[in-house]
Amino acid sequence: MSNVVIIGTQWGDEGKGKIVDLLTEHADVIVRFQGGPNAGHTVVVGDKKTILHQVPSGILHPGKQCVIGNGVVIDIETLISEIDLVKAQGYFRDDAALLISENAHLIMPYHKSIDIAREKMKGEGKIGTTGRGIGPAYEDKVGRSGIRLADIFNDDVFRAKLEQNLKEKNFYLKNYLGEAEVATDDIFSAFTALRERLRSYVGNAALFLHGALTARKKVLFEGAQGAMLDIDHGTYPFVTSSNTAAANAAIGSGVGPRNLDVIVGIVKAYTTRVGAGPFPTEQDNELGVKLRDKGDEYGATTGRPRRCGWLDLAVVQHAIRMNSISHLLITKLDVLSGLKTIKVCTGYTCAGKPVAGFPSDLAVLETCTPVYDELEGWQDDLTGVTSYEQLPDAAKRYISYIEQKTATPISMVSVGYRRDQIITLIDPFSVNN
Ligand code: GDP
Ligand code: IMO
Ligand code: MG
Repeated sequence: MSNVVIIGTQWGDEGKGKIVDLLTEHADVIVRFQGGPNAGHTVVVGDKKTILHQVPSGILHPGKQCVIGNGVVIDIETLISEIDLVKAQGYFRDDAALLISENAHLIMPYHKSIDIAREKMKGEGKIGTTGRGIGPAYEDKVGRSGIRLADIFNDDVFRAKLEQNLKEKNFYLKNYLGEAEVATDDIFSAFTALRERLRSYVGNAALFLHGALTARKKVLFEGAQGAMLDIDHGTYPFVTSSNTAAANAAIGSGVGPRNLDVIVGIVKAYTTRVGAGPFPTEQDNELGVKLRDKGDEYGATTGRPRRCGWLDLAVVQHAIRMNSISHLLITKLDVLSGLKTIKVCTGYTCAGKPVAGFPSDLAVLETCTPVYDELEGWQDDLTGVTSYEQLPDAAKRYISYIEQKTATPISMVSVGYRRDQIITLIDPFSVNN
């Protein structure tokens, strides 16, 4: 019996939502441990599409316990809308199915204003954030001035923290960013009006998880974003403001690292990135447009078109190292059908010399050239394939090429957005550590 961590190996949007929903069938508890409403995890059941931002992607299965861990930054207003939406779709009938850590930090209205105004001020040099206030909320958390979910249930504590914060925030908003100031009373009354909607979900999530693990329940940890957006190991500063790494599944939920058994890295069969920053295998050309159209590559949170390019194994191998990935899981293989040949980047050269690892200095990365292998493509439609044997030989070769180059077993291959469009080679929950 194992606990499983799902994380993205690229720049996010690898299809984590679909996979978490699928694996939830075998899990008891599903935990989000970092990020916030910058995430957009798409789950399709029948002809119904649900995009989850803060609620774990296990919520569509009755009888499973979902947890939002302490490492997540929460926007309570959009969280309530999200809860209402999934309920209106007929899911999440039992309120006890969601537990939110009282230690989770809140995204306040001024975090969103600051995020948006800073990006505007940066102009061309902007990061291309989702504008959800993620960076400013994590800044306050680390700066020890953040407001936690438990705080809003205590009027005196909440008001005092808000007043303290607004002294600085209003000065910064008005004098540096040229934005409107915000009033303590407005935020206080808005939040105290909303808090009753959340009260029953809030509790000691770490203690709950400890109990579940002791009772040998199976826990599925749901990562957001991807390895290259990690604050420490990604393409800094074009990253998000949390550690997307698997290790953060422990910190961000309050369990110890020995509880993370199987680490599954989701690899899109090609690469996408939304927002600014380096992307060595980007195809800013007809091919990129073709991949975007066929893969429907538009941001699940912001609707922005995603930049598309070839699979980059320098990126995937970096992710394998930083996350101790035990298994890979390939998604969107169906999107590559119809190409005569498929390129895969195996590494970079810089000034004619091979580069070891993934360069962390963006000035160096800019001078690097990707080295490609070219593999034979396939013409067949893969969206109806349900077993490895049914795959065309060239698709099988693409899968075993990735497996060999990364020396990491492939657990599953996804060939469409639906739950049933999956080929299982190794069930992550059946892996014994
Ligand atoms: P996440 O952020 O990692 O959960 O990924 P997103 O939901 O942002 O983006 C993945 C998109 O690809 C969604 O629209 C999914 O419905 C879709 N998707 C997931 N797996 C597959 C697949 O194997 N094939 C195809 N064609 N689409 C997929
Ligand atoms: P999921 O979980 C793709 C990107 C933004 C921007 C950078 C910083 O759906 O894979 P932020 O708002 O976090 O400060 O933005 O990170 N980004 C994502 N890109 N998928 C995501 O989440 C992302 N979350 C943030 O586009 O480049
Ligand atoms: Mg997404």
